[in-house]
Amino acid sequence: MKWAVLVGGTGSNLRAFLERGLEVCVVVSHRRDAGALDVAAEYNIPAVVLLPKHFRDRDDYGRALGRELAMAGAEGVALAGFMRWLDTATVQTWSGRIFNIHPSLLPAFAGLNAVGQALAHGVQWTGVTVHLVDEGQDSGPIVAQVPVEVTEGDTEASLSERIHCVEHSLYWQVLHAFEERKFYVEGARVHWREGQRGAICETVGDLKRQ
Ligand code: GRF
Repeated sequence: MKWAVLVGGTGSNLRAFLERGLEVCVVVSHRRDAGALDVAAEYNIPAVVLLPKHFRDRDDYGRALGRELAMAGAEGVALAGFMRWLDTATVQTWSGRIFNIHPSLLPAFAGLNAVGQALAHGVQWTGVTVHLVDEGQDSGPIVAQVPVEVTEGDTEASLSERIHCVEHSLYWQVLHAFEERKFYVEGARVHWREGQRGAICETVGDLKRQ
């Protein structure tokens, strides 16, 4: 299955996809300086920069994005560090095939700086969520979650590092599970085939404890 990956950050999740053999047909960045563009170049993946300031509005941006995804033959979309709101048409076109990863156990700490929010609240557990994208902010149907413990003396940097480690193990596995139809979406709920979700989340959990 061909994935379009929408980026804006360092590209560590994109790298994990490529290292694990997911087929990425195009990378679209909303920033010119995203490290993810270097990752795409390293793996010879076509990359496009769509700067929001070059478009009239969100819909206009969405149309350009749609053209890129169509030209690349994308069959699914994975957001990894893409920090822009998508327009309604894009979300509807890709409904059920567009995923995001967020560094908290949603619905807690949606939005920006989820790790900082978790520390500020003094939670003892936070984590990682992969969810489908809908029109809200980090509000789409939850596909998979893995908890990460907040330890004494954790800083944003130390907690982010452990969260990233979990992300790199979880996200590609969820996308691969989607390719293999190990879960399906019904309305706002995701249903996993028996035993499949546990198999993935436990693998990630074990890795986290190593
Ligand atoms: C990840 O922490 C993800 O949870 C958030 O953006 C970050 C992207 O990191 N949505 P990277 O660019 O994949 O390194």
